[in-house]
Amino acid sequence: MTRLLPVDPIAPDAEVVDEAARVLRAGGLVGLPTETVYGLAACALDPAAVARIFAAKGRPSNHPLIAHVLGEDAAQRLAATWPDTAHRLAAAFWPGPLTIVVDRARGTPPAVSGGGDSIAIRAPSHAVARAVLRALGQPIAAPSANRFQGLSPTTADHVLREIGTGVDVILDAGPCAAGIESTVVDARTTRPRLLRPGALDLPHLRTVVPDIERADEAYRGAEERPSPGMQARHYAPRARVHIAPDRPEAQRIADELVHQGTRAGLLVLGPMSSRSSDLLSIRCLAHDPVTYAHDLFSTLRELDEARIDVIVVEAVPQDDAWLAVADRLRRAACPA
Ligand code: TXA
Ligand code: MG
Repeated sequence: MTRLLPVDPIAPDAEVVDEAARVLRAGGLVGLPTETVYGLAACALDPAAVARIFAAKGRPSNHPLIAHVLGEDAAQRLAATWPDTAHRLAAAFWPGPLTIVVDRARGTPPAVSGGGDSIAIRAPSHAVARAVLRALGQPIAAPSANRFQGLSPTTADHVLREIGTGVDVILDAGPCAAGIESTVVDARTTRPRLLRPGALDLPHLRTVVPDIERADEAYRGAEERPSPGMQARHYAPRARVHIAPDRPEAQRIADELVHQGTRAGLLVLGPMSSRSSDLLSIRCLAHDPVTYAHDLFSTLRELDEARIDVIVVEAVPQDDAWLAVADRLRRAACPA
């Protein structure tokens, strides 16, 4: 039986934190709130517990996980080398929604890295995640707590629906602040590479690494990707997603679908006054990348739960601040 334990997101209750640490120490899995999305946590130094993460997610075992730590000291213990780029990024953005890829230390279990030579590390800022890390005294491996390729969970209830009995305890600290995953940067190369745009946006990243290379762009559609998480289809709802270039076109396609008897949803950017049809499920997301990102996954999930078959999405601006949102929409729209 999965236990759902409420916990204060700002001043986490000690008994709940201790219980989560106890479960992790015993090789169990914990649904853990972070500032980005909920993670499916296991003790990173326990290969058997890490193997349970892959099983619970239905994730191929060569897809690396993120190791969560309290800060740079703990990160360096997991890494073979700690390049200057990693130090500058950590100093500027940790704790926070930035994941740094470096060479894995020999002593760090390969399972966390999906068997590879590199390791992705981040120091989360969420008080609950930090309290559990402190109580455990060891790094925590945690991918987003969703089934493979599905929508990342932004509430404890989403974790329960995604993973079900595969998780022992879920800490319920309410909805996540960012609602979208961390930004992933490869710090192994002279010129750092953006592997996944995320909650820390590109304009902020560039203040520390102005020469960052857009690997997310360069590898779009390529066979060989630097990170398994960069595969085309990912972060996808059950419904088919269609991106329309503008509002009138989105509305036209949605109306046509409804006319054909399809259960359609329309996701627009900013407010919308006129309802074209009562049969259409319309959701308006804010014309602001941070708020849009916060609501995106939960809205797509809601439309899935309403048994919508096609979601027509009004395209978001092609602007660096919207990069993470545009990336998730593009992947959601990729055919299965
Ligand atoms: O916000 C987040 O990052 C959340 C919370 C729970 O921390 N975690 C998360 O984990 O999104 P996951 O496993 O769903 O996504 C990890 C991403 C994937 O795109 C993966 O390919 C990439 O990080 N990644 C992990 N290890 C890597 C490595 N060694 N080299 C390159 N990319 C790596
Ligand atoms: Mg994920």
